[in-house]
Amino acid sequence: MKRIAVITGASGGLGKEFVRQIINEVDEVWAIGRNVAKLEGLKTEFGQADGNGAAGSKIIPLQMDLSDSKAFDILSGRLVSEGGDSAVEISWLINNAGAGRFGPSKDFSTSELATSITTHCTAMAAICNICIPYMKAGDHLVNVASQSAFSPLPYINLYAATKAFVYSYSRALREELRDTGIIVTTICPGWIKTALLPDTLNGHMVKFPFLVTADKVAAKAIRDARRGKPLSIYRFAVRYVSWLQRHYPTGFSVRVWANSVRKYLK
Ligand SMILES: NC(=O)c1ccc[n+]([C@@H]2O[C@H](COP(=O)([O-])OP(=O)(O)OC[C@H]3O[C@@H](n4cnc5c(N)ncnc54)[C@H](OP(=O)(O)O)[C@@H]3O)[C@@H](O)[C@H]2O)c1
Repeated sequence: MKRIAVITGASGGLGKEFVRQIINEVDEVWAIGRNVAKLEGLKTEFGQADGNGAAGSKIIPLQMDLSDSKAFDILSGRLVSEGGDSAVEISWLINNAGAGRFGPSKDFSTSELATSITTHCTAMAAICNICIPYMKAGDHLVNVASQSAFSPLPYINLYAATKAFVYSYSRALREELRDTGIIVTTICPGWIKTALLPDTLNGHMVKFPFLVTADKVAAKAIRDARRGKPLSIYRFAVRYVSWLQRHYPTGFSVRVWANSVRKYLK
């Protein structure tokens, strides 16, 4: 039985860190993203890192645009072509792919709305359904939400709303899967230094409080998943602010957030 990790958004940022930290415990990492050059680059990078190329040969790049539902058929077809659930076990499924930007909601086109909702919500739920039949007791399903899941956030309204979906869906899925022994962990990071975050907005340098690196977030997520935890939030300060988000009156926290962002949008 081949043990694999399926990781979406593996071409950079947090997803690439998940690849780095999981690659030694599986036979293959199915690395999903749109940028095939970056996915192919992982083979070289991880191959060089271990000296003999063995880790690099474990990377299976799968070019997929998760905003296009055809991607889901590609993934399920690939699993079937491997020989089905008697030949492949998905030890780790990490739904990590994501994108977003700041701006007033009125500036988002219908196609941008659809792309974001499909990539964050439909793809995450569809990939869970495709992969779960290949998972067994003790295997890990990790869904990447965000601290933004805990409160409505003006000017990243679409992003935060889709992450609230990921959070809610994943927490419920965990309970549904309890009897199977598959462990679902939702991760809700604060700001991570990756290509997702802009350096400037309208010419203003942006300051992201409690900014952390992706390796720390991935390590904490993997540790928490192994301990069977439902939720993983790296760094005490982010856990504390997340608690405030959930316990302060929504109108108050929404206004505080909006005021902190408006200065960048002028
Ligand atoms: N950075 C933060 O502050 C932060 C905070 C909380 C949560 N998160 C979440 O962490 C996850 C990883 O983000 P990141 O910070 O690592 O950003 P990133 O460096 O921009 O990485 C995003 C990854 O998602 C992939 N992706 C985006 N759209 C895709 C699509 N339509 N189809 C397939 N792959 C797609 C990208 O690959 P391609 O370009 O190759 O498609 C890339 O590998 C996201 O879910 C994000 O929402 C990030």
